[in-house]
Amino acid sequence: MIITVTLNAAIDKSLSVPNFRLGRRHRTVEQRTMAGGKGVNIARALKALGQPVIATGLAGGATGTHIVEQLTAEAILNDFVRIREESRTNTSVLDPTNGEQTEVNERGPSVSEQEVELFRDKLLYLARGAAIVVLAGSLPRGVELDLYATLIRELQKAGVTTVIDTDGDPLLHAVRAEPDVVSPNVLEAEELVGHEFAAEEERLLAVREIVELGPREAIMTMADGCVADVLIDGKSSLRRARIEPREPIAKRGSGDAFLAGYVAARYEGRSPDQCLRFGVACGAESTGRLGAGLIDPKEARRLMGAVEVGAVELPAEVS
Ligand SMILES: Nc1ncnc2c1ncn2[C@@H]1O[C@H](COP(=O)(O)OP(=O)(O)OP(=O)(O)O)[C@@H](O)[C@H]1O
Ligand SMILES: [Mg+2]
Repeated sequence: MIITVTLNAAIDKSLSVPNFRLGRRHRTVEQRTMAGGKGVNIARALKALGQPVIATGLAGGATGTHIVEQLTAEAILNDFVRIREESRTNTSVLDPTNGEQTEVNERGPSVSEQEVELFRDKLLYLARGAAIVVLAGSLPRGVELDLYATLIRELQKAGVTTVIDTDGDPLLHAVRAEPDVVSPNVLEAEELVGHEFAAEEERLLAVREIVELGPREAIMTMADGCVADVLIDGKSSLRRARIEPREPIAKRGSGDAFLAGYVAARYEGRSPDQCLRFGVACGAESTGRLGAGLIDPKEARRLMGAVEVGAVELPAEVS
């Protein structure tokens, strides 16, 4: 079993509004709502890929009920802790005439210590039947910035593989807890190591630097694939996966699709290169779809042929 954790779950509302202008009144021509938050998106993609997954996290109020009902309607197994305050609704307006997307994210609920404690117990219970736990997305208000780090330490003790995708201070704390895998995009990685990457060799160095902060493996994703520092026969190895970037229909959620593909392959016991290859193929496939975590598994498998993966070396003077 794979568990995904979404501490700041949301209802994502997408509105299609032609000729959207600030300060005007509009009518939508199309709208849809989906349960969201990174862990939820990853669970949706894992389910589409045929993997056994349970989505857990925190959900509150009428919006929380809506999130759980939507997941159930999609036949995604879920087990959320109900919290007192209302979960977020995130609204995005897409103007189909020019492809521009505007997003407004609500601030989200504040979570009490007692609610966090209940969640921790639930997660450790669920983890008993799990091989991999994926922790993804932002933290809600009111919780300690090292909450992911605390959960990772406890999950590691329970012998579960931990994968983390978040940013800022929660990420900094999390990497120090030595998770199995961390998978930032370029911006998140730059913030984590504290400098920008201009050239390819700096990106290679970056995943090394991240691994030195604590995680066993680090994957940095970008539009043309990913750079990764992974363990092969127990030894750290730099890998590069490449795909021809496409013109995305919706870029949001491509990281979630990447991670779902990567985790699905890992759960099946594939080699590190195959895991990266499938992740990149799933990420690329999802850029053709509106709606985070939506993925066509057949098309993703076909795209694997378009991904090149292999070892890369650091230039001699820096290695
Ligand atoms: N334009 C693109 N063309 C092809 N593949 C893409 C493109 N953009 C992203 N991908 C794929 O998706 C993966 C993740 O992309 P990216 O690094 O942009 O994620 P992200 O910024 O974490 O996204 P999010 O957090 O919104 O889900 C990449 O590794 C790549 O495989
Ligand atoms: Mg991401």
